[in-house]
Parts: sequence; C-alpha cells; structure tokens
Amino acid sequence: MAIKFGRPLERKIGFVPVEADTNEIQRNPLDLTVRMRRNRRSEWVRQMVREHVLATDDLIWPLFVMDGHNSRMSVPSMPGVERLSVDQAVREAERAAKLSIPCIALFPYTDPKLRDDTGSEALNPDNLVCRAIGAIKKEVPSIGILCDVALDPFTSHGHDGLLRDGVILNDETVAVLTKQALVQAEAGCDIIAPSDMMDGRVGAIRRALDSAGFTDVSIMSYAAKYASAFYGPFRDAVGTSKTLTGDKRTYQMDPGNSDEALREVALDIAEGADMIMVKPGLPYLDIVQRVKETFAMPTFAYQVSGEYAMIMAAAQNGWLDGERAMIESLTAFKRAGCDGVLTYFAPRVAEKLKQQQ
Ligand code: PBG
Repeated sequence: MAIKFGRPLERKIGFVPVEADTNEIQRNPLDLTVRMRRNRRSEWVRQMVREHVLATDDLIWPLFVMDGHNSRMSVPSMPGVERLSVDQAVREAERAAKLSIPCIALFPYTDPKLRDDTGSEALNPDNLVCRAIGAIKKEVPSIGILCDVALDPFTSHGHDGLLRDGVILNDETVAVLTKQALVQAEAGCDIIAPSDMMDGRVGAIRRALDSAGFTDVSIMSYAAKYASAFYGPFRDAVGTSKTLTGDKRTYQMDPGNSDEALREVALDIAEGADMIMVKPGLPYLDIVQRVKETFAMPTFAYQVSGEYAMIMAAAQNGWLDGERAMIESLTAFKRAGCDGVLTYFAPRVAEKLKQQQ
C-alpha cells in the first residue's frame, strides 16, 4: 500500500480576502522604517537570509536488521519503516550512499530464542549486528556505521543492563558493554554509541578500545538520554515492548531535569566521547541548545521513533502536511545547534534535498 504523506492544509482552507479601506491607508500609511516582511517577500530573498539550512550531511539513518534472506517486515507503529534481512540492509546502505547520507545506525531484532538474562548474544562476534556490519562494509565501504551499545535487544527482560533482584547493576553492566563495544569494533563499526546510561561506560569503553588498538574508532555517547514515552515504537521494532519489565527510570534521565544533562555531558566528554547526543529530540531542544552553547562539541539529537510516528500518523490522517512537518522539525534541530540528527526520515529527506538541487 502506498503511504499517503499528508496534504497541504492551505489548499483545503483557502484564503478569504479581507476588506480594507485602501484609499485611507494610502493617505495615511504606518510610519515604519523597519519592515521585517521585506526579507520574506519572495523565495530568493528567503533563501538568501536563511540562517540554518538542513543538508544531507546532517543525516544519520537508523536501520533495523533481522534474520532471514531477502525479507522485509513492516513495523506497524512506524509507517514506512521495515526490519530488514542483512542482504536488504546492504541494499538500503547502498541507497544511503548514493544519496550521500554519511552514516547509518544499526539496531538488531534479535530472535527471542537467543535472548537471555545476561544478553549474552551481544558478545557473539557472529551476531546479527556484526554480520550486518561485515556485509555493509564489504559492499558499501564509503558509508559510516554507528552501533548502539546496550543490552536491551539481547536480554529476555528488555533492560539495557544486567538485572539482579530488580536492580540494574552498574559496574557489572559496564564490564559487559565494554566487551560488546570490542566485538562491534572488531566487526568494523566506525562509531560506538553507548545508549545504556550506566555511569562510567564511556571511559571504560575508550580504554578498552585503545588497548585493543582501536584508537580510530569513535564514540558518540547518548550523553543526555531521558526516560521517555517516545521510545515506544522503537521497542516494537526491536521486540522489547512486550518483554520489558518495569521502566528505565533508574538509569535514564528524569524529563524534569536540565542542569543534570550538562553534568552527564561533561562527564562523557571527560571520559573521551568524540560526539555527544541528546535524546529524544524535539521535546528536548532546550537541552540541545544548552549543551551546544556550553561545550561546543559535535552535538547530535535523535528524532526518536515516537516523534517519527506522530508526524507519520498525523500525515496519514491528512491532519498535516507530512513532508513539510518533516523538514520543519529537522530544521528546528539545526536551529537549536545540532550538527546532525538521527532520523528515520533520512532517505526521504535526502531524496527531497536532491530534487531541489
Ligand atoms: C536502546 C535504545 C532505545 C532507543 C535507542 N537505543 C530505546 C530505549 O532506550 O528503550 C530509542 C530509539 C527510538 O525510539 O527511536 N538502549
């Protein structure tokens, strides 16, 4: 089924001309030296004075991989997004490279039979993510690959870390995440992205990478990651929404906090993060702005699954123009100070930007 992507509201509403006494106004115009609308008169001038512009270089495209061959499975809560078998993920990586998208992010849908208490499949050098990295690096060597480091796609309880008596263990989890990062680096991952929010994981991962000789592998830390309702559709995609016991509020941040985000970011920078991420995106643009202004680091935001789903759902209902909402929301990230955005809209945006050239 073709996905309808909304329609312009203006076309439906139309404009009713306003009656005005033109003669009176011409006799007695407003005495304005500054008229802001001069810079908005036409497309060329709007283009000329525009402060922030979205470019294909700003995009990181998250992909979901699954077992199988030549197969794709749609994710109902993320219209237009599919889980892909590795060969299909390679096709999409090729498409991304052709569109000049600089980087893709890989997330596995792990076979439930392979999930256990400790997420041991995360350390299997032949797991889905590692196989996908290998296949993509072989056929599309020019594209960057980012991988999440966290245990949730691999644990039977859906948490990002090791669970004992209802508590997520910090230091024990970090020890496992360090190994997971090494396994991914070994497979050829370019950017390790710890998304688990354990304390001290960035430093531990940096030390482990360096002592194993992976000094060129980067770290983009999910530095300010909030315990958010907007991750719902992602959990459908990786198959953790049904299995997740409880919530992630003992490790992900409280949505009411802002100063705390600066402390988190400061720690991750001190521990060796090359790039910083704020997550979710649009509801946390104030955090993006503070982080960028305070640290002047390469700063990214994740326009998460729920944000994507909201725009898509409204567009499919004809309640807003999906195409414009997509560009407007992504431009807002740039305006807030982002150097780039992880977004499920990436290929659609890249295609649109290419057409405009
Ligand atoms: C796993 C992880 C999550 C997301 C990225 N990595 C979910 C979570 O923390 O529960 C969310 C991404 C999205 O919603 O698009 N640690």
